[in-house]
Formats: sequence, structure tokens, C-alpha cells
Amino acid sequence: AKDPAMTYVVTEACINCKHSDCVEVCTVDSFNKGANFLVIHPDECIDCGVCVPECPVEAIYADADVPAGLQQYVALNAELAQDWPAITRKVDPLPEAKQWAGVSNKLEQLKRA
Ligand code: F3S
Repeated sequence: AKDPAMTYVVTEACINCKHSDCVEVCTVDSFNKGANFLVIHPDECIDCGVCVPECPVEAIYADADVPAGLQQYVALNAELAQDWPAITRKVDPLPEAKQWAGVSNKLEQLKRA
């Protein structure tokens, strides 16, 4: 990101869903993948926002617009993006994606490794 204070962020709704439609439209390959969640690398994101409407569960926000209660995902994206490999192609959603869509407080479900 040109301005280091600005990036898009993947939040809780992605956990256990991982639809990955977002990946397909990212022109700078800024998504990184964990077992059940994706994150955006803040240094690679160019703040274009094309991924936002692609996510079926509305998990992605501009960092300035992350709702209260999901603020910790800003730091979490930055942290996990250091450790997780890039993902550049859409993959199948997780098999349990439908059950987990719309469920709140999924942070404890996050698989970090
Ligand atoms: Fe996750 Fe939505 Fe992308 S569920 S993998 S942020 S399309």
C-alpha cells in the first residue's frame, strides 16, 4: 500500500467459509491463505477495493471502515500475512461454508497454523 495506514482487511465472516472469490479479482496477489481464513498483506494491497463486492459473506472492509468489534482483524491480517503463503487462484469454499456463514464470534475457530 502506498499509504501504510490504508489497506483492505479480511474479517471474521471469512473464517470457516473461505470462498476465495476475492483472490480471483486481486491484481496484486495480496491475499495469503491459512487453513480456514484468508488475510490481505497490508504492504501489497493497493487499496483498490475490487475484492469487497466479490465476497459472498461480506468479510472485507477498508481498514478505516472495519466495524467496532472487528478492529483486531486489522492487526491480525498484518500478522498472519507474514507467515502464510500467497494464494493467487480461487479454490473451492470450505465444505462447511454454508453452516458458518452469518455466525458471529468465530475468532476461536481460526486456525493459525
Ligand atoms: Fe474469505 Fe470472502 Fe475471500 S469468505 S476467502 S474474504 S471471498
